[in-house]
Amino acid sequence: MTSKIIGTGSYVPVQVVTNDDLAKIVDTNDEWITGRTGIRERRVVMEEGTSHMAVEAARRALDNAGVKPEELDLILLGTASPDHCFPSGACEVQGALEAVNACAFDISAACSGFLFALNTMQAFIQAGIYRTGLVIGADCLSKLVDWKDRGTCVLFGDGAGAAVVRAEDKGMTHTVMRSDGAKWQVLSCISRTNGNFLNHQTPEPGYISMDGQEVFKFAVKKVPECIQQVILESNLSMDDIKYFVLHQANYRIIESVAKRLKQPMDKFPMNMDHYGNTSAASVPILLDEMNRTGRLKTGDRIVLSGFGGGLTWGATLLEW
Ligand code: COA
Repeated sequence: MTSKIIGTGSYVPVQVVTNDDLAKIVDTNDEWITGRTGIRERRVVMEEGTSHMAVEAARRALDNAGVKPEELDLILLGTASPDHCFPSGACEVQGALEAVNACAFDISAACSGFLFALNTMQAFIQAGIYRTGLVIGADCLSKLVDWKDRGTCVLFGDGAGAAVVRAEDKGMTHTVMRSDGAKWQVLSCISRTNGNFLNHQTPEPGYISMDGQEVFKFAVKKVPECIQQVILESNLSMDDIKYFVLHQANYRIIESVAKRLKQPMDKFPMNMDHYGNTSAASVPILLDEMNRTGRLKTGDRIVLSGFGGGLTWGATLLEW
């Protein structure tokens, strides 16, 4: 028994912020951002938060799958930007959906959040513990970036994507998840702290900080490695894979991964030009676009891969 994605959904805020808009608030320009990243615009929340986006994506995925909220056994939300310290965003989603029979919790793996949540769901289903699950990736990094830091504020966008997963004979076949905690400082967001009555600390704003070149080097090495691992373990070859659906951080990272895997670029769908890097949401948003536009056919073999803060990275091989 394995698990299969039987429905997808996504949500992005309506507000579009272009590269030219950002050039009005920091010293940057469209040519620099597009040339280095492939990003032309991103969506940014006005009022809504991570849970709101997650709920909307989840409703669309349930509708697409034809599954009722009360059928859900488990809800996993991959996010690095929950609205609250607790309860988990997943519990808020459960409440909003009235998924009364589910257990819900968050998974914190930054931009690998959806991948880690999907692989965790697969483990529960494969073990026979649960049958029907909802996996969401949602992030609202616009609330965590320093809008004065041109090195990071141009990269990210807000959004959510979701997948309904069910126990079936065919579907996810091989998964890999890895992390390297020794490099946690390469990409981080130190949370705000109020201190306590003994240390008299004052609250500090916590912004995303990143060593861009280290992240780049890490991604172009580790992503091909984990993709090769799931393919090797499945006794398939690269040519058996129809699409590689990678975290949408940067088109140059994806180009470099394609080159290392000796695979053509048309197997690597991309949408970061419209949404920027939506962190844990990027893989399920892209998957949902592909599903709804009919690009995914029954029996297609695809590899999903995520990477990000932690450092974390992983891949999943599945049959659609
Ligand atoms: N607009 C204009 N100039 C910018 C800029 C911006 N938004 N951001 C940085 N620069 C400048 C730098 O200040 C630097 O100027 P200097 O040479 O005068 O010092 C110059 O551009 C080069 O900076 P550098 O950081 O070396 O650029 P880079 O080629 O490494 O590109 C990234 C920066 C962030 C695009 C690149 O490192 C990258 O894509 N890294 C991966 C990041 C990522 O994907 N993170 C999320 C992973 S989940």
